[in-house]
Amino acid sequence: MDDKRQIAIVGPGNIGKATGLAMIQHGLGDVVFWGRDEDKLRGTKLELMSCVDGDEDFDVCVSTNPAIIAGSDVVVVTSGKPRTGNMTRADLIKENAPIIEKVGAVIAQHAPDALVILVTNPLDAMVELMNRTSGLPENKIIGMAGILDSRRFRGLLAEELGVRPHEVEGIVIGQHSDSMVPLFSSATLRGRRLDDLVAAGKMSRERLDGVKTNVASTGATILRLNGMTAYLSPAACATDIAESYLTGKAREFPASVRPRGVYGQDGDISIGVPVIVNEEGVTPFEIPLSPDEKAAFERSVADQVKQNQALDEFLSWRSLSLEDAPGEEPPFQPA
Ligand code: LAC
Repeated sequence: MDDKRQIAIVGPGNIGKATGLAMIQHGLGDVVFWGRDEDKLRGTKLELMSCVDGDEDFDVCVSTNPAIIAGSDVVVVTSGKPRTGNMTRADLIKENAPIIEKVGAVIAQHAPDALVILVTNPLDAMVELMNRTSGLPENKIIGMAGILDSRRFRGLLAEELGVRPHEVEGIVIGQHSDSMVPLFSSATLRGRRLDDLVAAGKMSRERLDGVKTNVASTGATILRLNGMTAYLSPAACATDIAESYLTGKAREFPASVRPRGVYGQDGDISIGVPVIVNEEGVTPFEIPLSPDEKAAFERSVADQVKQNQALDEFLSWRSLSLEDAPGEEPPFQPA
């Protein structure tokens, strides 16, 4: 990588803008935005240029021309429709699949060496689509969700146990949906396993079960309370992933990737598993699961396999429509 790093953000919506701000505040490099709405792009630039001291060496560039992402070290994909009302993430697949396929082709053309961090929902399906269609290497495609769900898990556990979040450790694997799997068997409070505290009668199992349900519904709760999906926390998490890659300061957390054999998953599926991110890209690895957690992960995989059928349908519809009616492409909007 060159000394001067460049981070491309596709889509100047709420998450895109917040990601740009976090990248600038972390001093990770120049930020370029690609979107379709010139006013929004210009407004984003005007706002971000005034977020940090002008003495710092950074720049923000915006364009509706996809070539603006050329040579980027990291591309954060936030484009597509967010959830509204009572929608589930899976409801977005038809609208967001054509967008993500097109964005993948643009990245492959202009920034083929970049780490691609996907934020668009339904997350695991969009990561899988990028893996199937872009031709980019598997170790450079990562979906941001497990890191966010794990931070939610940690926060809720801390609240329930009446301690500060840094005193608790715990991660969440599986699909970014109601079937996500918070791992209690490896969760700790001040270094002690929660399971041991339950066995010693210092904590009730029921309290922990309540946390499990709430972790999966936090995204929907934020949507209901704020009237819009979470945007600050996805931006912060995407920025931390980028930082590990750009600085080589390796971090471990769960993310949606092709598991490459981890937990026995070796097929055409992308799902949340523990990964390490460093300057080489993304490497999945296993941490031990209890038998219940293994079964829950397999149920989550089964949900993803089902969701991938919608991807199969999209891809076969797309190839048919391209063959039958040249020029008739799926609708595309970068953001
Ligand atoms: C959420 C979105 C990012 O969980 O899926 O808030």
